[in-house]
Amino acid sequence: MDNTDIKSLDKQFVANTYGRADVVFTHGSGAEVYDSEGRRYIDLGAGIAVNAFGVADPVWAAAVTEQIGRLQHMSNLYYTEPCVKLAKLLCEKTGFKKVFFGNSGAEANECAIKTARKWAFDKFGDFSHSTIITLKNSFHGRTVTTLSATGQDAFHTKFGPFTPGFVHASAQDASEVRAFAGRGNCCAVMLELIQGEGGVVPLTREYVNEVVQIAREHDLLLIVDEVQTGNGRTGTLYTYEQFGFMPDIVSTAKGLGGGLPLGACLLGERVEHTLGAGDHGSTFGGNPVSCAGAISIIERIDNELLADVRRKGEYIKNELTGAPGVRSVTGMGLMVGILTDKPAGEVAKAALRRGVVVLTAHEKVRLVPPLTVTDEQLAEAIKILKEVIGE
Ligand SMILES: Cc1ncc(COP(=O)(O)O)c(C=O)c1O
Repeated sequence: MDNTDIKSLDKQFVANTYGRADVVFTHGSGAEVYDSEGRRYIDLGAGIAVNAFGVADPVWAAAVTEQIGRLQHMSNLYYTEPCVKLAKLLCEKTGFKKVFFGNSGAEANECAIKTARKWAFDKFGDFSHSTIITLKNSFHGRTVTTLSATGQDAFHTKFGPFTPGFVHASAQDASEVRAFAGRGNCCAVMLELIQGEGGVVPLTREYVNEVVQIAREHDLLLIVDEVQTGNGRTGTLYTYEQFGFMPDIVSTAKGLGGGLPLGACLLGERVEHTLGAGDHGSTFGGNPVSCAGAISIIERIDNELLADVRRKGEYIKNELTGAPGVRSVTGMGLMVGILTDKPAGEVAKAALRRGVVVLTAHEKVRLVPPLTVTDEQLAEAIKILKEVIGE
């Protein structure tokens, strides 16, 4: 099938929910991907922060194919080894007590939301404390409930009625969180420590400290959405470690599966017994193949790799800060947002033409390369990106 056929079939048969860039990718290795015409690209997008170890990583591919040849699925009616091994690994590395597996970030957040509401229901015997405080400019997914949780009006225009029970507080001024908490009808605060889709906007340490304090005072659960920031992306296994507190619930996905669909909701000691049999479930969640791949990812996110992620993040920041056409650089580790003079979409298109894959987030150019991108690949890609931005 040639490119023209692929594009016209996509237009005819695939739901028109995506504005795709004009390229058909076929294969790759690590942070280098190739299109159907054999052109090479350096990938600073990693399938939106998913391909943690890049494309066709041999260790991940071996783990996945070995498991596919053995048992691809049996459902959660039975035990399977990769699921329990991954849950144990995640708990041992983080101190969380239990893990619920789904297939995506939105599903991980659905589990977090249901857990918080069930926790409040168990405590009060009714739905009087079902409200969850989320932040303005947040993004938590595209199901009707996670759209409700998302604090961006643009997502609240077309698909009502939305799930009630969410209020959106300022991500800069914690007094709004305090005011909502004071109403006495809340069970949790849910936040991204770096608002990814919102434009790679990190929360400040002071703000987060205050929110943690408010949650303690009002006995609210702290839910951290690490769908994008998790699994080594920002230079620690999870980003909350860099903010010096322990959440009650962490949701994650994207890089966890290394390229296969997998979401996880990590449950701390306050909520480890909240969900019982029948309270939640997923046909595919904890699928042996996805979990086998994820084990091979999480096992390799060690201190050396994390230090390397931080070092490469600093390199990107140093290269871009003050470069012609760059207004600001935000983010942590290998999750970087660049505000440019030119519209971000134009930069992304021009970079793609020059063989560098980058993403956008709101008005920013967003870089979330594979954690294993090499220094040489980074140097080559950042040089091109600087030229594109400064042109
Ligand atoms: C912070 C955050 N939460 C949730 C989601 C939703 O994840 P998914 O698309 O896997 O459902 C995303 C996706 O970009 C995200 O960045």
